[in-house]
Amino acid sequence: MWGRGFLQRARFAQLSPSSSSSRSLLSAASAAPPNSLYFQYQRGRWFGCSTEKMAPVRDPNTLSNYDAWRTRHTTANLKIDFTAKCLRGSVILELESQTDKASKEIILDSSYVTVNSIKLNSAPSSWETKARTEPNGSPVHIAVPEGAAKGEVVNVEIELATTDKCTALQWLTPAQTSDKAAPFMFSQCQAIHARSLFPCQDTPDVKSTYDFNITSPYVVVASGVPVPDETKDLGEEKLYKFQQKVPIPSYLFALSSGEIASAPVGKRSCVCTGPNELKASQWELEGDMDKFLEAAEKIVFPYRWGEYNVLVLPPSFPYGGMENPIFTFATPTIISGDKQNIDVIAHELAHSWSGNLVTSCSWEHFWLNEGWTMYLERRILASIHGGDAHFDFSAIRGWKALEEAIKEYGEDHEFTKLCISHKGIDPDDAFSTVPYEKGFHFVWSLDRLVGRENFDKFIPYYFGKWSNKSLDSYEFKDTFLEFFSAPEYSDLKGKIASIDWEGRFHSTGLPPKPEFDTSLADVCYELAEKWKSKDFIPSPSDVALWTGNQVLVFLNAVQDFEEPLTVEQSQALGKAYGLSESKNAELKAAYYHIAMRSKDASAYQGVADLLGEVGRMKFVRPLFRGLNKVDRELALKTFEKNREFYHPICRQMVEKDLGVSEAGNSS
Ligand code: BES
Ligand code: ZN
Repeated sequence: MWGRGFLQRARFAQLSPSSSSSRSLLSAASAAPPNSLYFQYQRGRWFGCSTEKMAPVRDPNTLSNYDAWRTRHTTANLKIDFTAKCLRGSVILELESQTDKASKEIILDSSYVTVNSIKLNSAPSSWETKARTEPNGSPVHIAVPEGAAKGEVVNVEIELATTDKCTALQWLTPAQTSDKAAPFMFSQCQAIHARSLFPCQDTPDVKSTYDFNITSPYVVVASGVPVPDETKDLGEEKLYKFQQKVPIPSYLFALSSGEIASAPVGKRSCVCTGPNELKASQWELEGDMDKFLEAAEKIVFPYRWGEYNVLVLPPSFPYGGMENPIFTFATPTIISGDKQNIDVIAHELAHSWSGNLVTSCSWEHFWLNEGWTMYLERRILASIHGGDAHFDFSAIRGWKALEEAIKEYGEDHEFTKLCISHKGIDPDDAFSTVPYEKGFHFVWSLDRLVGRENFDKFIPYYFGKWSNKSLDSYEFKDTFLEFFSAPEYSDLKGKIASIDWEGRFHSTGLPPKPEFDTSLADVCYELAEKWKSKDFIPSPSDVALWTGNQVLVFLNAVQDFEEPLTVEQSQALGKAYGLSESKNAELKAAYYHIAMRSKDASAYQGVADLLGEVGRMKFVRPLFRGLNKVDRELALKTFEKNREFYHPICRQMVEKDLGVSEAGNSS
C-alpha cells in the first residue's frame, strides 16, 4: 500500500529526544542520556543507540509510536452482535501530536481485529496492517502525510469488527448462563488485550478520556459513568451511553452485556449481576462497600471517580477481580455466603488510587500497581477488622505465597524480580504473585523504615503527584527521595540512604524477611503441628471459630509438610472440616491440593468437577497442574470438556500448562 521510503521516514520521525515523553524519561533517569541523538531507556539506565535508530523502549509491549502521538480522547461507537459474536462499529481516536510535524504516521497496536477503513480528519487515509509478531500483534500504520504541529489534535476514525480470535472477549450462549434466558458477554483487557478490540495505543503509559456509545439488545455495563438520560430505544436494541472523564489507560476499557440486574449496596455503590444471583450478591457486599470506601479515603484521599460499583460475572471470569473504573468486574466465587472473600473488593477498590489514578508505565513496573494495591488493601482491611495483627496475618499469607512462587520459578528466574524485563515477553506469561507480594513487601518495608506516621503523609503526596499519570520504578524512587529530603525528615537521612533500590528492583529471589506479628497465624500452625501425628483425631470444633483465611493458612502449612498426609488422613481432614463440600472455592481448592499430594484418587473427580465450575485462573491453573501430575488422562479429559467454558486467556494459559496444542493434541 505504501512505498518503503515513506515508512522509514515516518518511523524515525518520533525520535527527537526533545519530545515531551522523552523529556519525562530524562527526568526519570539517574543520569542524563549519553550524548547521542538516539538512545534507549531500559530498567533505569540509558543505552546509547547511536547507529541503530530506535524509539526509547519505555514500554516493550506496545508497537505504537506514542512518543510522537498521544491519544487524548476515545469515542467507541460499538454494536454488540451476539449472533456473530463480535463487536462492530467505529472507534474515534483523538491524538495529539508530540512533535512539530516530524512524525508522518501514526502506529497503533492491534491483534486479530478486522479494520475496514480508516479516516484521518474525516477524509479517507492511507493505512496498512502490518504482519503479526508475537507477543505484540499487528501494528496498524496510518499515514499523516503533512504531519501535525506540536499540540495539534488529529482525528482517526476506524471502522472495525472484532474476530473470533479476539482474546479480550468471552461470549456465553444462553445455555452457559445460570438463568438460561439470554446470552452474555464480557471483556478483559489487562494486560494487552485491548488491542484485540480495536486498534489503539495499547500501553499503560497513555491515558485517554472515553465516550462509550454501545448498542445491544441487553443491558450494557462499561468502565464509565452511565448517562441514563441518553439511553435510546432502537427497536430490538438500545443505545447505552457512558462517559469516562478521568483519563484512563486502554487496559481499563471494559464492556459487558447480558441479562443484568442491579441493587444498591452502599451510598455510592450498586451491585450488578444476573437476576438469579442478585440477592446473594447484594447480601455479600452491602455491609462493607461504604466501610471500604471510607477507610481507603482516610488512607489516601477522596475517591475521584464518582460511583463505585461491582459487576459480578459468570464463573468463567478468569480473575478474582478486575479494577475496571466505575464497575469492578468480579468472579462469583466471592459470593460465598459468608463474606469471607470480599477482600477482593477491597483490593479492586484500592486500585482506584494505585493503578487507575497512578499507573505503572509498562508491565515491567507492574508492581507499582499491584504491590501498592496489596498494601492499601491490607491497610483498608486492617482498619476495619482490628489493626496490626490482622495486617500481619494477611502479610504472612502474602509472604508464604511469595515463597511458593519463587520456589516454583527457581530463585534465579527473571520473573522473580520486582522489575521484570518484558522484551519479547507476553505479560500474561510473566504474571504471578511476585509483583503483588514482592511489591507489597517493598512498600511495607518503606513504611516501617520511615515509620507509619511519616509514611502516611507520603501516601497522599505520592498519589497526588502522579494522579492521571504513569510512572516507572525510578520515578517512584525519585518521588520517595524528594518527599523525604524535606528538612522535617532530616533525622531519617541515614535510614533513607540505606535503601538498596537497585537490589530491591533487580534482585531475583526473596527480599529480606520481615518480622511478623504471628498471633493470628500461630493457632493455625499449632493445629497443623497436631496433624503431623498419624494418631490425631480431628473434630469440626478445631476450626469452628476460625475465619476462612485462618483455615487456609492451616491448610497451606499442612501442604508444606515434608511428608504428604496419608490417604486416610487426607480424607479425614476433608470430612472433619467440611472442605470438599465447602462453598468457599479457596478452601476447596487448598484441600484438593492436599488430597492430590496424598494421591487420594477418590478426590480426583471432585477436582475435575471444581474445574468445571470455576474459571478463575488462580484456581484453574494450579488445579490443572496438580491433576496433570497425578492423573494426566483425567486432566486432559477435563480440559477438553470445559474448553468452551473457559475464557480465551485462561484457555490459552492452561493449554501452555498442560502442553496441549490448540487442536487438543498433547505434546
Ligand atoms: N488487575 C488485577 C487482575 C489482572 C492482573 C488481570 C493482570 C490481568 C492481568 C486485579 O486487580 C487483581 O489483582 N485481582 C486479584 C485479586 C486478589 C489479589 C485479591 C485476583 O484476580 O485474584
Ligand atoms: Zn490487583
